[in-house]
Amino acid sequence: MEKDVEIGIFGGTGIYDSGILENPQEVTIDTPYGKPSDSITVGIFKGRKIAFLPRHGKKHTIPPHMINYRANIWAFKELGITRIIAPSAVGSLKEEIEPGHFALPTQFLDFTKSRNGSFSELGRVIHISVADPFCPELQSSILKVIKEKNFPIHQDCTYVCIEGPRFSTKAESKFYRSTGAGIIGMTLVPECQLAREAQMCYASISTVTDYDVWAEKPVTAKEVLETLSKNVERTKKILTDLINQIPKTRSCSCSKALAEAEF
Ligand code: ADE
Repeated sequence: MEKDVEIGIFGGTGIYDSGILENPQEVTIDTPYGKPSDSITVGIFKGRKIAFLPRHGKKHTIPPHMINYRANIWAFKELGITRIIAPSAVGSLKEEIEPGHFALPTQFLDFTKSRNGSFSELGRVIHISVADPFCPELQSSILKVIKEKNFPIHQDCTYVCIEGPRFSTKAESKFYRSTGAGIIGMTLVPECQLAREAQMCYASISTVTDYDVWAEKPVTAKEVLETLSKNVERTKKILTDLINQIPKTRSCSCSKALAEAEF
């Protein structure tokens, strides 16, 4: 199996293939936690080995609450990946965060209910810190690329992660809004915390697809997909520039996440 892949990309809704890889090969990986969302496409981009896995599956058949997040992260780790870029679709909880804009989550509020969020198990108790849940090095590369392209970007957003697959009630949405959080989605948790436990760098590029229902108009999947498909080309442009920008070696502390995490 390939062991020298550098960067992994989790495709979100609307991004089912990277479309940027040379010599793409399909790799099937089984993990102690079961199967990842699909086969993983591994290929070369500008001399760097990249892997691509659509988290909802290539045919978008896996809802957010049924994604095997542990298997997806484990499979990336098996390939040797140290950095994960995670595009995703989010709703907006603030007027100024408009559909079509990008947002960079730097914190999360976890309202998920039934997900396996750790590799910790009986016999091995791990308490990682997620005080700052994302890789600062990856985040600054993302920010630089999006700013260079003059795409509208909201930095320092708090991401509310809900269980889904339903959208929120008006009461829930107004409550989330009252926390000061900026964006809402269904997939960031536990993906980002599992990456941290696996000592991998992880950062999200969120595409804002809708105003959540606090704005009174119910969100629809159709609306989400329409805005996403308008932004897919932009996201791909960001990804290609970003891969160039990411330094070869890591100078963040993500690789030491377990250093003081075990009793
Ligand atoms: N993904 C995209 N828009 C969303 C919303 N409004 N709520 C939850 N997840 C979303």
